[in-house]
Amino acid sequence: MPASVLFVCLGNICRSPAAEGVLQRLIQERGLDDEIKVDSAGTSSFHIGEPADRRMRVAATGRGYDLTSRSRQATARDYAKFDLIIAMDRNNYRELATLFGEPSTKLRMFSEFLDDGPRDIPDPYHGEADGFQIVLDLLEQACPKILDRLVEISQAKTR
Ligand code: 4NP
Repeated sequence: MPASVLFVCLGNICRSPAAEGVLQRLIQERGLDDEIKVDSAGTSSFHIGEPADRRMRVAATGRGYDLTSRSRQATARDYAKFDLIIAMDRNNYRELATLFGEPSTKLRMFSEFLDDGPRDIPDPYHGEADGFQIVLDLLEQACPKILDRLVEISQAKTR
């Protein structure tokens, strides 16, 4: 059975759509399109319906990622829909814990999948241009591990 992941940041226009794009390419490279499903959302309603921030799209395109998602706000119903829900920073985590209303092993911090990195994936929206490259470096470090975890979840659901 397929395993699914939802990446969540504040606006769903910088960090989480980029995480979606990085993981989606790994999924395609490993031929796992039928096994692994990926989506992203924001805790805020600030940018609903918008494509990813142009600066993030440019940075991602430079590394061969195509960011196609449109911003949507996370809802309480996402809790049941996904096997893994990954918050990009501690504020996002707290917002989701409140939204979902129950402690859950499904809800994880992105930094748990980093060998070496900050607790919070830095929000690049108000920062310098290199912030987008820093975010992509962190995403590329963690996404192979996230994919391994999703493959395990998919196999456990199939058994
Ligand atoms: P994201 O970045 O959470 O990585 O999508 C942000 C996007 C928009 C805003 C803040 C962060 N904003 O304040 O509008």
